[in-house]
Amino acid sequence: MPTIAIVGAGPGMGLAIARTFGGRGFDVALISRSEEKLQTLVDQLGQDGVTAAAFPADVLDRASLTDALDKAKARFGGIDVLEYSPAPHSPVPGLTMVAPSEATVDDLQPQIEYAFYGAVAATRAVLPAMREAGAGTLLFTTGGGSVDPVPMFGNVNAAGAALRNWVLNLAKELAGSGVHAAHVAINVWIGDRGPEGFPAATPEQIAPVYWDLHENRDRSEAVFNA
Ligand SMILES: NC(=O)c1ccc[n+]([C@@H]2O[C@H](COP(=O)([O-])OP(=O)(O)OC[C@H]3O[C@@H](n4cnc5c(N)ncnc54)[C@H](OP(=O)(O)O)[C@@H]3O)[C@@H](O)[C@H]2O)c1
Repeated sequence: MPTIAIVGAGPGMGLAIARTFGGRGFDVALISRSEEKLQTLVDQLGQDGVTAAAFPADVLDRASLTDALDKAKARFGGIDVLEYSPAPHSPVPGLTMVAPSEATVDDLQPQIEYAFYGAVAATRAVLPAMREAGAGTLLFTTGGGSVDPVPMFGNVNAAGAALRNWVLNLAKELAGSGVHAAHVAINVWIGDRGPEGFPAATPEQIAPVYWDLHENRDRSEAVFNA
């Protein structure tokens, strides 16, 4: 069975992507910080008939992330698709949001560690085996502000844009190798708790984009608009 590893697996996009790939014959390796929350997702997927397992790690602790992906590879015999989409659902010390004019290196550094360096570390853990096999898919998620920035997300958008630029370039480098890399910019609020009037969508509406990028392999970016 092919395997997808989801880094930053939570009840929103993480679970919806897991269901989308799991429903098409994939086993699922789930990575985020809380083992307890991951086990809830494993149980939910199990009820859908999807084989999933939890590998706790923090994307800010890159050694733990590499270790979790190594354990997932050992458990499932390899990773065919990597998807990267961590999101702090509650405030995290050091992860603040500031406008561009207010941003300091101290505001930017943690966002870049979170959105970009974690993605690079995850990729380095799975790409060598994918290249050797001549097959694999690397998918990375940001908000729409990585493409069209919004002042209140100055530092968040800069980190997302760094990731986006790197993914688009990685896709160019990997063209013809059998490994496909792509970026997903989600240009909506996910779920129904967003600000009044802000466009929104459910994870279930967005998740098919990931399958399309994996299956059709014809573009290195998808921007999801409402
Ligand atoms: N939510 C939105 O409105 C929105 C809008 C546009 C784009 N996006 C993008 O969508 C993706 C997230 O989707 P979602 O909001 O539905 O999230 P989700 O899949 O429901 O959950 C994301 C998970 O990331 C985990 N996480 C947070 N910090 C982590 C860390 N340091 N290391 C490892 N895992 C960590 C959290 O679990 P733990 O706390 O247990 O670690 C959380 O459950 C992100 O790429 C985000 O940029 C979100």
